[in-house]
This record gives sequence, structure tokens and C-alpha cells, in this order.
Amino acid sequence: LGQHLIYFDSIGSTQKETQHLAEDGAPHGTLVITSHQMTGRGRLGRTWSMPKGKGIAMSLILRPKLSINRIPQLTLIAAVAVYKAITEVTGIQTDIKWPNDILVMGKKIVGILTEMQTEGTNVKAVIIGMGMNINANKNDFPEEIRHVATSLKTLTGKEHDMSLIVQTILFYFEELYLRYLEEGFSVIKWMWESHAVSIGKRINARLFNGKVLTGLAKGIDEEGALLLEDDQGSIHKIYSADIEIE
Ligand code: BTN
Repeated sequence: LGQHLIYFDSIGSTQKETQHLAEDGAPHGTLVITSHQMTGRGRLGRTWSMPKGKGIAMSLILRPKLSINRIPQLTLIAAVAVYKAITEVTGIQTDIKWPNDILVMGKKIVGILTEMQTEGTNVKAVIIGMGMNINANKNDFPEEIRHVATSLKTLTGKEHDMSLIVQTILFYFEELYLRYLEEGFSVIKWMWESHAVSIGKRINARLFNGKVLTGLAKGIDEEGALLLEDDQGSIHKIYSADIEIE
């Protein structure tokens, strides 16, 4: 992974660029990376803003031979890889919040956005985008996101080697990805659940249609969907939602 690396001094969105490259046939493992992303995209149509030069935005092309319903598992693999890399490089223990946020004390350090290109029921490409807040100071973030975002520097008081963090994430992602292809999702599921902050807690899940489900987060299933037990004891499978821990 990352053998085909395309670096931009600045770019609108690595995700958008990578989507185009994937449509044009760019191979598995292509990585687009920048430390100045101007119009980043977040999940659920949101924007992703990052202080210039103080973090990394990157998007990775995968061409897995997997069925569509297994693709969300790749987001969870990415989250475990980020978790491991951050712990190794900085010593900080992070929390994973379903499906894809990496938090420390409730504030976001890394966001992950997984998108796919399909043809019929075949997966042509999966694009995994990661935005990482590394060396930003508190005041570098726009006022409106200061209460929800933080950086590794803010937490440790020192600057971190951004390329080492990227290399370490790719190293773990590749290791976990190959293991996943060989052994299946259960090992990843276990690692993910053991670092997930929401599991075992009461949560509110805001669904696409605006409906909110409240209950106990029990874990994830084999597809990576979140299992929520409501107060009547029924289990709901959640594929896409915003989670709030009560
Ligand atoms: C989220 O938490 O909503 C996901 C944020 C994903 C941001 C990354 S930064 C690299 C890639 N390029 C984008 O425009 N978005 C993703």
C-alpha cells in the first residue's frame, strides 16, 4: 500500500481527487496525500476542515474482491490501524467511536470516510479517506469546532512526525487487511470492540431519516453494523447513524 503515492502541497479534497483516479483505473494501493486540504468532505455530507500544514489528509484506493456488504468492515480495519499507530508513535490511548471516529476525551483526532465505486453488484474500488489532526494548536481550529476537535500536539504538548504517523498507519492497515482477507473479520472485530468507547454504554443513534433510537450498544455484528438493544429488549442493526453517548 502507498507504492503509488501522489503528494499535493495543497488540494481541494484528496477524496475527490482519488475518486477520479480510481475511475481512471488507478491501481490498488494508490495513496493521495496532502497537509493542506481546502475543501475536505466529511461523513453524511458534512465538511471536514483542517488547519493548513498541521495535519494530514489522505485517501487510499483499495480494489478488494469482496461483496458490497463487507465494505463497512474496511472502515473498522482502518480505525484499528489508526488506533495502533497513534498509540505506538505518541503513547496516547485513543477511543474508537462507531463507526469511524478516533477520539481522545470525547474530542476528535481522526475522521475516516469510506466510499465505494460499484458496477452492478461488483465493488470496483473502495476509497478510504482519513483526516488527522496532528500538530494543530487549539486556536488553529475554527471557533465552531473547538469543542469537538483536538490534536495530538494539544494533548501531548509536542509536535509529532507526520510522515512517521502516516507510515505507521499504512503498516498496520496493510498487516490487518491481509490478515482479514486470510482469516476473516473476527480478529478485527475483537480488536475493534476492545477499543470502542461506545460499547456497553447507553447511546442515542440518530438515523438517516432523523429518527433517534436509544438503548444499549451491545457490539458490532459480522458485517460491522452496530447492535443496539432498546429498552424493550429488541436488537436493532444500525448501518449508518450519528452516535451520541448518553
Ligand atoms: C468524518 O469524520 O466525517 C470523516 C472525515 C474524513 C476526512 C478525510 S480527509 C482525507 C479525505 N479527503 C476528504 O475530503 N475527506 C477525507
